[in-house]
Amino acid sequence: MFVIAHVSDPHVDGSAERAERVARVTRYLRGLTRPVDVVLLCGDIVDSGRREDYEEVLALFAGTAPVLALPGNHDDPSALSAALGDEAGTSSDSPHRCVVLGGVRFVLLDTTVPGEVGGALGAEGLSWLDRTLADPGAGATPTVVATHHPPVPVGHPFVDGVALADSAPFGEVLSRHPAVVAVLVGHAHTAGASTVAGVPVLLGPGVASTLVLPFESRPGDDAVVTSEAPPALALHLLTGRHLTTHFRVLG
Ligand SMILES: [Fe+2]
Ligand SMILES: [Fe+2]
Repeated sequence: MFVIAHVSDPHVDGSAERAERVARVTRYLRGLTRPVDVVLLCGDIVDSGRREDYEEVLALFAGTAPVLALPGNHDDPSALSAALGDEAGTSSDSPHRCVVLGGVRFVLLDTTVPGEVGGALGAEGLSWLDRTLADPGAGATPTVVATHHPPVPVGHPFVDGVALADSAPFGEVLSRHPAVVAVLVGHAHTAGASTVAGVPVLLGPGVASTLVLPFESRPGDDAVVTSEAPPALALHLLTGRHLTTHFRVLG
C-alpha cells in the first residue's frame, strides 16, 4: 500500500495563523505510526509567491515524507521550483513534471496562467500530458495526475468560473490512458469527489479555509470561503490500481 497525503491551499502568508494550520497537518502526519509515502502539495502553497513562505512550508514538512508540489494561482512557479531545489524532477523545457515514486507515477501539471485566477493547460500542456502518459517505458504503472485547477464543476459559481478552462480536452486525453487511477486537485478548498472521463477527481480540502456553497451561506454573507473551519487533508491509499480516500479534519 502506498499512502499519499494530499495537502492543498495552505496559502501561507507569514502569519502565525496560517503557519499553525500547516503545523496541525504536520503534527498529524508525524503522529502516524506508519509514515505516509509522499506529501502532495496541490497548489496555493503560499499566498503571494514569496520565497521565504515556501521555505517556511517546506521546513514544516521536513522529515514527514518526500514532498511533491505544483503551483496554484497564488504561487510563483519559479520561486516554488527554487525552494524545492528542483528535487522533484523539474525539466527546463516544460512547466510540468513527471515523477515516479514507490512504483507510482505522478504527473504534476502547472495549470497556472500568469495574472489569472482561473487555469488552463493550453494546446502545449495537453500535448505534453498526452505524450507523457503514453510513455511506453511507464507501461501500466499506476498514475496519479495532479493539477491545482479542478477539471470539473464543483457547484459554486465563483469557483466554477475560475476552474480548468480546457477541461473537455483534458478529459479526452485521460480517456486514452487507462493507467491513470485518479486526478488530485486543489483550488476549490473543499473535500470532495467527482469524475472526469470516468476517472475519479478528488478535491483536496483547504488547509487555510473551506468553501461555502451558496446554500450554506448565512443571509447577507457572500463569502466564498470560511476560515472558521479547521484545516483538513486527504489520505489516498493506493494498492495496485485501487485507490481509497479518507478525509481528515484536524479540529
Ligand atoms: Fe486557494
Ligand atoms: Fe487557487
